[in-house]
Amino acid sequence: MRIKICVLLLMGFTATIVAGRTPEKSPTLGVTKTVFGKTHDGREAHLFTLSNKSGMEVVISDFGGNVVSIKVPDRNGKMGDVILGYDTVGGYETGTSYIGATVGRYANRIGGAKFSLDGKEFTLPKNDGPNHLHGVFNKVFWDAKPGPGKSGPSLHLHYLSKDGEEGYPGNLSVDVTFTLTNSNELKMEYSATTDKKTVVNLTNHCYFNLAGSGNILENKLTLHAERFTPVDATLIPTGELRSVAGTPFDFRESTAVGARIEQDNEQLKLGHGYDHNWVLDPGITKTPGLAASLYDPSSGRTLEVWTTEPGIQIYTGNFLDGTIHGKGGQVYERRSAICLETQHFPDSPNYPDFPSTTLVPGKTFHSVTIYKFSARK
Ligand code: GLA
Repeated sequence: MRIKICVLLLMGFTATIVAGRTPEKSPTLGVTKTVFGKTHDGREAHLFTLSNKSGMEVVISDFGGNVVSIKVPDRNGKMGDVILGYDTVGGYETGTSYIGATVGRYANRIGGAKFSLDGKEFTLPKNDGPNHLHGVFNKVFWDAKPGPGKSGPSLHLHYLSKDGEEGYPGNLSVDVTFTLTNSNELKMEYSATTDKKTVVNLTNHCYFNLAGSGNILENKLTLHAERFTPVDATLIPTGELRSVAGTPFDFRESTAVGARIEQDNEQLKLGHGYDHNWVLDPGITKTPGLAASLYDPSSGRTLEVWTTEPGIQIYTGNFLDGTIHGKGGQVYERRSAICLETQHFPDSPNYPDFPSTTLVPGKTFHSVTIYKFSARK
């Protein structure tokens, strides 16, 4: 009887705590916990490795909710890591590019680093010229709980962002659950509640390179968006929802990322390439809809992004400049990765016409984004 129970447990969810970087044995299904290293204040950060039946593997840290690696097969079944990252927790602690980050309290920019709620103005740190960008959620420790999840191994992260943190009102209780399904999907489920009226916008900031190296200019991108939000010189939306028709922002048909990126276009110049929010056609949805597809012809790897969010920021790694030495000493050059950040629109707190990012006590913010991987022959 006891043996039977043990076997059943082994077949199902496995959570192993191992000291050091290398797990003793990687379970074929489940979550493995290892030590990542210490942050400058001596706190121990961990890595949680989620593996599914087909051998896909996702590694996430409780430091910053950073996604450290995603290993998926190419068209020949060869596994490869498709995101940028650092080898050490120190990289995540000092890095300024939000590599792999769980982003909040407000993903993307807030113009002039201020906003008002009910006539009261709140000021935030200016960390991007005159604006506020992204916030600190990728630099804090999250409480982490591995679990079997409903549809695969999962990691549940919780963080309490205190009232006044970075100037935002309200104690914001945030939960993010990552689940790796057997269909090679990484599902990210976000929820948040507050005790004072506040604003919230949460996303994931993985830098994808589906080939594992080189640049992403040959990747074919499809975006289910007829409009985008043009920006000013500091990348704050002008408020216009502009049609993509006849512009280099039209990705309604699969097009190489690099096909038009150097065109003489005012918006491309302001963004130093693509660094814009697209308005997803269905708006906010109850269940995730297909927002974007990215296909790498060299490896055959394809990424589909499904979301309930109304927008997606496409950022083509324009600010990467070869100064970051990432995993295995790899140097991250300009345009060596692409981010597909599902979100509410930038600067929504200052644009009453944009879908609202305001959260009030008694309500729960909820969103789901799925990265679905496959390979074409
Ligand atoms: C976001 C922004 C970019 C850049 C990156 C981080 O995607 O839109 O402008 O700041 O984060 O480097």
